Amino acid sequence: MAQNWTPQSWQNKEARHLPSYPDTAALGGVLGTISNFPPLVFAGEARALKADLAQVAAGKGFLLQGGDCAESFAEFHPNNIRDTFRVLLQMAVVLTFAGKQPVIKVGRMAGQFAKPRSSPVEVIDGVELPSYLGDNINGIEFTPEARIPDPQRLLQAYSQSASTLNLLRAFSTGGYANLRQVHQWTLDFMGRSPWADKFAQTADRIGEAMDFMAACGIDPMTVPQLQGTSFYTSHEALHLKYEEAMTRQDSLTGDWYDTSAHMLWIGDRTRFEGSAHVEFLRGVGNPLGMKCGPSMSPDELLRQLDLLNPGREPGRITLISRFGDDKVEAGLPPLVRAVKREGHPVVWSCDPMHGNVIKASSGYKTRPFDRILGEVRGFFAVHRAEGTHAGGIHIEMTGQDVTECMGGAVAISSESLADRYHTHCDPRLNAAQSIELAFLLAEMLNLEAVDRAQRAA
Ligand code: PEP
Ligand code: CO
Repeated sequence: MAQNWTPQSWQNKEARHLPSYPDTAALGGVLGTISNFPPLVFAGEARALKADLAQVAAGKGFLLQGGDCAESFAEFHPNNIRDTFRVLLQMAVVLTFAGKQPVIKVGRMAGQFAKPRSSPVEVIDGVELPSYLGDNINGIEFTPEARIPDPQRLLQAYSQSASTLNLLRAFSTGGYANLRQVHQWTLDFMGRSPWADKFAQTADRIGEAMDFMAACGIDPMTVPQLQGTSFYTSHEALHLKYEEAMTRQDSLTGDWYDTSAHMLWIGDRTRFEGSAHVEFLRGVGNPLGMKCGPSMSPDELLRQLDLLNPGREPGRITLISRFGDDKVEAGLPPLVRAVKREGHPVVWSCDPMHGNVIKASSGYKTRPFDRILGEVRGFFAVHRAEGTHAGGIHIEMTGQDVTECMGGAVAISSESLADRYHTHCDPRLNAAQSIELAFLLAEMLNLEAVDRAQRAA
């Protein structure tokens, strides 16, 4: 267990990006209520994910982490949960079948609400209001009332997280994720993408493999891995008062776990040395992510790793690099080398979203798909050169047919961003762009496997 740590010890450290509530008594009441609510996940599940990630850290497997930038109350609908889940399943199938890697699936779902913002205020037509901080804190409407942090929103976010997670658990193990269904996961609007055909071909080959196994006497219905899947949840552990209220001592081990999600990550803006967010997360037993952007130095990273994972437990830490396509090849190698030299067993994952935001000529905040692919290629190139495993991808995506990121095989132009731009925060990949990315990742994983075989020979 972490030394000199309590679920409250973060309160003595510098906390950035936390909301300030005018009605502190109401906030205290809500947090008291939440601390008596059931945990959303069980500590044993967090340990199972850590064990899966330990395999990835050892070069055996790939982490697929994706979902909304910010979940919202407005987009809360079973079809949206289903569609995001099925695109993640499709991506996992591509990575497993074409990339030949076991895939660990983690949603940015069931709790990904609170957002750090680049400015505390937003100005529209000369009117200045506090920024939107996520549906669990304030409202996105540009009115003074909506922008006041309201503790009741935490209760609604908990409830939405609980029912989202309940549906995800049902989909994972209740038959929806059965590999026999692989053709049914394709979304209708995907027909326009050439990658939908490629996916259908993959699905056909999986069907043949299942028929072959059945003919050999292996009944897929009795093989748990073919019938269902493991699916985990994650979010940025930003709203520390909520996370503290969800933190419980595991009755089996006596260790503390943040039971709001299986995996929690520390954002690029809150991972500085001495931060309250790092202090909080060092004491919980969950697997942790840490975003690493251009301002992270190798020495600082090593000090943070010693703090967050003094026992060097494999699977505990996933480093999520987010440099931008033009910076990754220069910025990432010093970090990878330092971590390798010190023998820290981490998963390296690539977030090709947050370093590649631009303003389109039509005025929308977007991410060009070719830049996203560029960062992914750069990330794989760095790991191939360093002899380390490119272990994962971290993306903002949705199963909906949105037009938020420019480009892709069904090309979205600057002008067509306006058609279906629904995100509550950053632009997300749509279903077709996500599948296209999965095929590129599979190709990269195959190249890595060829290198590895050559080195072994
Ligand atoms: C995010 O993942 O939504 C995010 C805010 O990322 P970062 O901390 O890397 O900027
Ligand atoms: Co984001």
